[in-house]
Amino acid sequence: MNTLEKKKLAEMPKIELHLHIEGSLEPEMLLSLAEKNQISLPYNDVDAVRAAYRFRDLQSFLNLYYLATQCLKTEQDFYALTLAYLRHCRDENIVYTEMFFDPQTHLEHGVPLAVSMAGIAAAQGEAEREWGVDSALILCFERDRPAEGTIALLKDAEKIGGIIGVGLDSAERNHPPAKFAATFAAARALGLHRVAHAGEEGPPEYILEALDKLGVERIDHGVRALESPELVERLRAEQIPLTVCPFSNVALGGFGNLQQHNVARLLESGLKVTINSDDPAYFGGYLTANISDTWDALGLSFEQTIQVQKNAIDGCFAQAHKKREMYEKLSVYG
Ligand code: HPA
Ligand code: ZN
Repeated sequence: MNTLEKKKLAEMPKIELHLHIEGSLEPEMLLSLAEKNQISLPYNDVDAVRAAYRFRDLQSFLNLYYLATQCLKTEQDFYALTLAYLRHCRDENIVYTEMFFDPQTHLEHGVPLAVSMAGIAAAQGEAEREWGVDSALILCFERDRPAEGTIALLKDAEKIGGIIGVGLDSAERNHPPAKFAATFAAARALGLHRVAHAGEEGPPEYILEALDKLGVERIDHGVRALESPELVERLRAEQIPLTVCPFSNVALGGFGNLQQHNVARLLESGLKVTINSDDPAYFGGYLTANISDTWDALGLSFEQTIQVQKNAIDGCFAQAHKKREMYEKLSVYG
């Protein structure tokens, strides 16, 4: 990307569709929350935390990610975490973001659902009022936990209000999606949207299963789809959005480096690719850096930057009039 294109990328209105709010917890905030809430961590300073950001695979990352979530205890903590991410959105011209959160982890740490959700909602309201940053919340179930109790959790969240959909995350290997079929059916009956992580570390079959057994509308990651030509053809024909996260895939060993990432081939295959940061505090950068570095590494065109933004507008769960507004604002750039 040349300097002018980088400037246009920075300025253009952007959308993020794959972001774990807990994965935006930067080391400085982690350490101050640990001190405030008297949680002992095996790290004394920011450098020690950053030194732990060397991951072999998804599980080695999740171990640290879940350890850090222990430091989130109060409504104020969730508010501060979410507001800090939404401030990043303001600074990067991310005008709309659909954020994931992992309530089962927080419940296990003694944080009631109403507490985490109230903190997140307060920050969403403030970011919208103060900065015009629009956001939505997706409740993720952790696939390596039992499905028991997830429908009750879903109903609790619906009673509180404020989620637009459900997702499926955490350790993918040996955890196919089908176990959550009844939960996702219940979500559908409640009028909620459905997405699932699939084909990050798991095989193409898990993507198929997420589509057919969970009725998902998007696939989070999905990069292993290329191993199955039949699946690629289906994803292309149905224009199922893929929320691809290049920094995440490299950080967790899915690809050796950005040059080896398959996102160029996914785009060439006619798939509805979007670019996202996943867990930006851990994986080396937020949305704009993910796009810019990936485009440089793979020699992608500026038109393709516009294309992934259009894909994100099409694939997001915002209301039709908001999508039209986003299209109009984007049209200035290409
Ligand atoms: N994959 C699966 N689960 C997750 C991730 C991820 O990248 N980040 C947070 N939970
Ligand atoms: Zn993710």
